[in-house]
Amino acid sequence: MPTTVLVTGGAGFIGSHTCVELLTHGYDVVVVDDHSNSSPHALERVAKTAGRPVTAAYETDLRDRRALNAVFDAHRVDAVIHFAARKAVGESVQIPVAYYDTNVGGTTALLAAMEQHDVRRLVFSSSCSVYGDATKVPLTEADPVAPTNPYATTKLLCERITGDVCRRLPGLSVLALRYFNPVGAHPSGHLGEDPRGVPNNVMPYLAQVAVGRRDRLRVFGDDYPTPDGTGVRDYIHVMDVAEGHRVALEHLDDEHGMRVFNLGTGTGTSVLELLAAFSAACGREIPHEITGRRPGDVPALVADPGAVARAWGWTTRRDLTDMCRDAWRFQELNPSGYPG
Ligand SMILES: NC(=O)c1ccc[n+]([C@@H]2O[C@H](COP(=O)([O-])OP(=O)(O)OC[C@H]3O[C@@H](n4cnc5c(N)ncnc54)[C@H](O)[C@@H]3O)[C@@H](O)[C@H]2O)c1
Repeated sequence: MPTTVLVTGGAGFIGSHTCVELLTHGYDVVVVDDHSNSSPHALERVAKTAGRPVTAAYETDLRDRRALNAVFDAHRVDAVIHFAARKAVGESVQIPVAYYDTNVGGTTALLAAMEQHDVRRLVFSSSCSVYGDATKVPLTEADPVAPTNPYATTKLLCERITGDVCRRLPGLSVLALRYFNPVGAHPSGHLGEDPRGVPNNVMPYLAQVAVGRRDRLRVFGDDYPTPDGTGVRDYIHVMDVAEGHRVALEHLDDEHGMRVFNLGTGTGTSVLELLAAFSAACGREIPHEITGRRPGDVPALVADPGAVARAWGWTTRRDLTDMCRDAWRFQELNPSGYPG
């Protein structure tokens, strides 16, 4: 069982919640994050929420190989959870080179440092976006992959690269987790999603409208082939995602090589249904307008979460009401996000 876990992107949305989950379950945590999309204050909140701090936090770009090797030299790392990446689908269409550079370049730098330091356990953040314009609901890991935007392509490339490395290093164990749509916040309200600039994801945008920071939610398209015409997604509570990573660590040693799992609930929710659930959670109407489709978006993405349930005996525990309540609690307590 790993005891010291290196978390790349540990100050980000999913990373910070996972740090809390690991710290509260006795793991020691080392974070590497360049804070390109997060505040260093997130790690103070992690310490407050978990009741103890991470062992060390390095403000470092993952692609800085010298700095990354120094982190591995300074700590006996048992396993790595690799969150650090650029993640905005629309932006990836605009600046594809930056996406390949950060997401693929960051992953290859990490794999090289792991190999050099004999670290053989990795959990990788993949994404349901690798399934592309899927027409099938729900999706299993065996369904075809066909990314429709540069972001999704970077995630698939990282899965492929990691698979190639596994074939060369027989002792390496990798779990690539294809998250569907992580939302929500820690139930304490201390930790949540606080993106820099305009949120690219619907839930933090909704929360910022509800708290008065933005005037209305733009719903990108109501002419999709879905029951109400708006995009359908499989929202998963970020605490379930964090828990899933902790459980994944316990299963890295089950077998060597590369394994891929969906991380979702199996329930699809449209944007209008999410809007209604969030309005109920915050007790007010959320102004919104329907606009055109956003490039790279697809009609419906819903997980079949059966494989992970069979492999680990683990399923998600939180529903849409929990997700909206917790996201709203964080936003209400932190109307401007983290300080600084
Ligand atoms: N949030 C989602 O909807 C979602 C869905 C599927 C997959 N994912 C994946 O999960 C991971 C985490 O997502 P998140 O929502 O927490 O994003 P996030 O932007 O909140 O967190 C990513 C963190 O990585 C850091 N980072 C980025 N580039 C870096 C670099 N070169 N070196 C060091 N640190 C760097 C950022 O500062 C940030 O703290 C990402 O890999 C993302 O692609 C997210």
